[in-house]
Order: sequence, then C-alpha cells, then structure tokens
Amino acid sequence: MPQLRLLALLGCLVATAWAGSDPRAGIVGGRKAGRGAFPFLASIQHRGRHFCGGALIHRRFVLTAASCFQVRNPGIATVVLGAYDLKRRESSRQTFPVRNISRNGYDPQQNLNDVLLLQLDGEANLTNSVALVVLPAQNAMVEAGTSCQVAGWGVSGRRRRLSRFPRVINVTVTPEDQCRPNNVCTRVPSRRGGICQGDGGSPLVCNGLAHGVASFSRGPCGKGTDFFARVALFRDWIDSVVNNPSAEPVWGL
Ligand SMILES: *[C@@H]1O[C@H](CO)[C@@H](O)[C@H](O)[C@H]1NC(C)=O
Ligand SMILES: *[C@@H]1O[C@H](CO)[C@@H](O)[C@H](O)[C@H]1NC(C)=O
Ligand SMILES: *[C@@H]1O[C@H](CO)[C@@H](O)[C@H](O)[C@H]1NC(C)=O
Repeated sequence: MPQLRLLALLGCLVATAWAGSDPRAGIVGGRKAGRGAFPFLASIQHRGRHFCGGALIHRRFVLTAASCFQVRNPGIATVVLGAYDLKRRESSRQTFPVRNISRNGYDPQQNLNDVLLLQLDGEANLTNSVALVVLPAQNAMVEAGTSCQVAGWGVSGRRRRLSRFPRVINVTVTPEDQCRPNNVCTRVPSRRGGICQGDGGSPLVCNGLAHGVASFSRGPCGKGTDFFARVALFRDWIDSVVNNPSAEPVWGL
C-alpha cells in the first residue's frame, strides 16, 4: 500500500510536468522507424504542430491520452493519419478535425484512466500508410517480461526538439510490483530509453495488440519506468463508444 501511494504521488508530480506547459513527450534511446512501419500511429496537432500521439482503432476513432488535453481544448486539435516526415506535406496524409470526444473517469491528480477517444469528423481510408491497430480483449493481461514496442515523434535528444520522423524503441513490461493495477509499465533493460515529451497518447504494442496508451514516466526521460494506461480495462467502453458515433460535430468539446 505505501508503495502504491508513493507511485501515485510520483505519478502525479511527473504527470503535472508532462501535462502542464508542455504535454508533448518523445522516444529516447530508440531508432528511426521505417516509413509505413506504424500505419496506425496518429499525430495529433494544433496549428500544424505535433503535440501528442494516438492510435487509429476504427475508421472514425483515434485512441489517445486524456492528459494530452489537460491544457488544450480537443476542439482545436487536428488528427493527422499517414504522416511520416513532419516537415513535409505528404500525399499519404489524411487530416481530420475532431467531431466528438469521450473520456472515462480520467483522474489528473492520480493520473488514472488516462484515455480519451477522438471521433474524427469523417472516416479514414485504409491505405498502405493508414491502418487500424487491434485492441486486446477486455481484461486481457500482458505478462511481465513481454517485449513491446512504442513509437512516436516525441523528444529524442538533449536539444528537446520533437523528432522529424517517428522513432521506435523496444521495451520490456515490468513486474506488477513496479507498476499500478491500472497501468502497464515498461523499462528498457540496462540502458537509457523510453518515452518523452511528445509521445503522450502513443500506443504500446505487445504481440500485435495495443495494450497501452503512453501516460507518464517517472524521472527524466528514458531513465525511469514508463507508465501506460492499461487499454484492456477499457475495451468494453471503447466498443460501446465506437458503436455509437456522433452524427454531427459537437461544439464546445
Ligand atoms: C477517401 O477516399 C475517397 C474516395 O477516393 C475520397 O473521396 C476521400 O477524400 C478520401 N478521404 C480522405 C480523408 O482522404
Ligand atoms: C524489436 O522488436 C521487434 C518486434 O518484436 C523485433 O522484430 C526486433 O528484432 C527488435 N529489435 C531490437 C533492436 O531488439
Ligand atoms: C459525444 O460523446 C459523448 C461521450 O461519448 C456522448 O455522451 C454524446 O452523446 C456525444 N454527442 C453526440 C451529439 O453524439
């Protein structure tokens, strides 16, 4: 119990740092992803600037982190699918305003339930560059020691700039006693690596399934444990939302 409180407190402090003035978080210690390697990866942008990642889980819905919108109104976001080089206009891209959003009990103090669904104002076309990621079944577990991947355009180096291309890193799921029940946690064994500013909302993919949504990390980027919202706890809720899409844009999101 004391350990849970400690983690929650640390989570709270770091979550504030992430979600406050600069909710953008990036991959440290990874490698440049190949073009088309993560066709489900969305870049969530404001006025053409990336600030969070997301995952296309349905032709009309992107799963991201609620903390990405702590200081931003979702109504101002655009969702960019099929992106690779953030400095170019790419013909592979499909860009959408947000029609509606759904949260499920997000608690910014404890940084719990850090998930948010963005309904796109339209339907994505599935192409070589735009594809859906598969979600785990409700309550499916991912075992400690499992190797997973996380990719994003977040900060990768000391210059604190976003990455021009998505970067990817292989990470390992930690034992439960280094995590919280509502999270999936990862580390990179024996070297520096992990998520950083600009990777918030990016999916953690384990055995082909999006088991996590990048939420926060303890300590400096790439040095501590990374915390992801545990997607399997939200599968039934996600299904209920995607099966009842809004017909019209919702104002004042
Ligand atoms: C999807 O494909 C249709 C038919 O080719 C096209 O009219 C539409 O603009 C495409 N949508 C996007 C978002 O690219
Ligand atoms: C990372 O994981 C992928 C998928 O499991 C695997 O194919 C690849 O070899 C791994 N790469 C490294 C550098 O460990
Ligand atoms: C927008 O989403 C919320 C949350 O899922 C839902 O309750 C609401 O009915 C939706 N709005 C419309 C107009 O469909």
